[in-house]
Amino acid sequence: MQDRFGHRISYLRVSITDRCNERCVYCMPRELQEWLPHGEVLNYDEMTRLVRIGADLGVSKVRVTGGEPLTRRGILQFFRQLSRIERIRDIGISTNGTLLAKRTETGRTIAEELADLRVKNVNVSLDSLDRDIYAAVTGRDALPQTLAGLRSAQQAGFTQIRLNTVMIRGKNEESFGDLVRFARQEGFLIRFIELMPVTTSDVLSDENFCPVAEAKRRLEAELGPLIPEPDFRTNGPALYYRFRDFPQRIGFIGALTNLHFCETCNKLRLTCDGKLRPCLGNHLEFDIKTPLRQGATDEDLQRFFLQVVDRKPEQHDFRFNYQPGRKMVAIGG
Ligand code: 5AD
Ligand code: SF4
Repeated sequence: MQDRFGHRISYLRVSITDRCNERCVYCMPRELQEWLPHGEVLNYDEMTRLVRIGADLGVSKVRVTGGEPLTRRGILQFFRQLSRIERIRDIGISTNGTLLAKRTETGRTIAEELADLRVKNVNVSLDSLDRDIYAAVTGRDALPQTLAGLRSAQQAGFTQIRLNTVMIRGKNEESFGDLVRFARQEGFLIRFIELMPVTTSDVLSDENFCPVAEAKRRLEAELGPLIPEPDFRTNGPALYYRFRDFPQRIGFIGALTNLHFCETCNKLRLTCDGKLRPCLGNHLEFDIKTPLRQGATDEDLQRFFLQVVDRKPEQHDFRFNYQPGRKMVAIGG
């Protein structure tokens, strides 16, 4: 699948729930959260079918997101279904980490179960190692659970564990240095992410936006010069650097300040309520649940995918006063 701007689509992000056990300021609206009714949310068979259709069209990588994906009942069943789609080479999950150490009926941790189901990379949100700052950002005092989750992930033996830190000026920038040292010590790949305007509450303002350039300055003052590593890329838009004398890499996701951010985009998103979204930073979304539930054939659904890809914009709208009507929590980051 390729769009008119040359983006080759090989990566599908699947949000499996809008529910979450945290309340990150940049994700959840502050108003009372209204969850989607269960019937609106795709069941696992429906989601698996759509992933398979995507795989037939060239998707080789899937990342399961939320909300918090591990809050959805029967989640391991879904990963088992995904693991059977041969063309999907790479299965990942984005999680807040709080449930990775939880034990299932078999006595094993969720992290171990996931690793056994071909899950390769785990992205864990971690905005601070200071318990109070963590609680202020996520709305929950769950740093100990998240750290236990990371420990379980290490023991489970994933190929890669990444930390995602959303940068909020005046909230967690004091934590950046500690996070880098922690990542270095534990062997995690850390990425600093610019705040994006993707919730219904106004979290993005000049006061709390911390650009990548500022984070780099701050880290350089604390830890020494950062050297660009232009040849190192993961599947996403992060640019990587390293500190002299340390092999550890550090990524920066400049969603707003990197003007080349969208050039290498290879993503398509499926929301938990059955919308295909060609771009996170654009209001366009297409309801694939209705045809799916009305008996569309695989060919019909393939055509639907191709039409959505054809509408993929050249770049996101974040810089032009993007005022979304949707919450990040239902799109999946
Ligand atoms: N801006 C930037 N990143 C965000 N995430 C969630 N909301 C935002 C936002 N408004 C990130 C979280 C999580 C991933 C799924 O998306 O850090 O790691
Ligand atoms: Fe939950 Fe992740 Fe959103 Fe935080 S960013 S509220 S952990 S879904």
